[in-house]
Amino acid sequence: MRPLSRIAGIGHYVPKNLVTNHDLTKYMETSDEWIRERTGIEERRYADRLGETTTTMGVEAARIAIERAGTTPEQIDFIVFATLSPDYYFPGCGVLLQRALKMKEIGALDVRNQCSGFVYALSVADQFIRSGMYQNILVVGAEKHSFGLDFTTRGRNVSVIFGDGAGAVVLQRAEREGQGILSTHLHSDGESAEILAMYNPGTHANHWMPTPYATFDEAAIGQTFFSHKMIEEGQVYPYMDGPAVFKKAVVKFPEVIQEALFANQLTTADLNLLIPHQANLRIAQFVQQKLKLRDDQVYNNIQRYGNTTAASVPIALSEAWEQGKVKENDLVCLAAFGSGFTWASALIRW
Ligand code: ACO
Repeated sequence: MRPLSRIAGIGHYVPKNLVTNHDLTKYMETSDEWIRERTGIEERRYADRLGETTTTMGVEAARIAIERAGTTPEQIDFIVFATLSPDYYFPGCGVLLQRALKMKEIGALDVRNQCSGFVYALSVADQFIRSGMYQNILVVGAEKHSFGLDFTTRGRNVSVIFGDGAGAVVLQRAEREGQGILSTHLHSDGESAEILAMYNPGTHANHWMPTPYATFDEAAIGQTFFSHKMIEEGQVYPYMDGPAVFKKAVVKFPEVIQEALFANQLTTADLNLLIPHQANLRIAQFVQQKLKLRDDQVYNNIQRYGNTTAASVPIALSEAWEQGKVKENDLVCLAAFGSGFTWASALIRW
């Protein structure tokens, strides 16, 4: 049997600029109480507007992960970079990271799976290690949300939730029998693709434009890629039907965690740590309750960072590892759900 892949090094980076709920009240009608009650978030970090990008934060996290893996950027033989807030519409962040770290002319793949992006990226990397094609893969999840949020009251239901940061891991072959990523499980349901989405700029020319925008009409079909109207109406910001996302997430999170455990003939009692994507503390608490997990079996840090989308799972895993909450032989489950909808899990014997 071919060896499994293991996380040989992990790291994360969050910007210095700390933004409290109270700080947001300067820009929009909201309150610390509303944000804490509905989301559990107390503060988040925002990247330096001009000095930091999704890639530069990814690079910081990657440097730590590479060093902790006992390797060097020159030895990395493949990059998988997950983000929904890339530096450029194209090319992707993978090549920018390859350039910044002065790596060899290795392959660089970008994954666009939003909140489940990191778990999807990990799954892709895992297959390359298992097949023997690559030996040292860098997997990065990074986001600079703060550059693309609507900080007026119009956008408050979305803007208060998100924060910036990055996490990274280096995957290598497992060193001992039974160690490593036991399995990954990927799912999607595009029926509700527009429930949590950023529509513009895009090539849909309004054909797929759903209902939330009052301005939708037949005459708008064929509109340009980018227009003043889009900016004026806030169509260049993320749209989210929060309650609809919540309803689907609380079903799919437990499902995909149970699927991973079942596939490996394990149960929730065997689980040392669940790292759920930090979408919303209420969702994580609901999942914990549904799976009857103890507090010490679940790691949450959304209170301090907000929802960092593709970066949330690796940031939380990295923090938990630094705090000694992930030890050799522990059973760790990563689970994510997000826009698409897409959802995924990875079960790891550390
Ligand atoms: N501050 C104050 N009031 C607000 C804010 C805000 N930041 N945002 C919305 N409101 C108001 C609304 O305008 C509305 O007012 P109204 O009743 O006068 O019309 C009221 O609060 C309730 O709005 P809802 O959108 O129905 O609020 P809800 O109680 O559903 O909470 C939330 C919103 C927190 C987004 C919730 O729906 C949720 O948690 N959904 C899950 C989605 C999620 O977690 N997304 C994260 C990103 S996606 C992902 O990672 C999977």
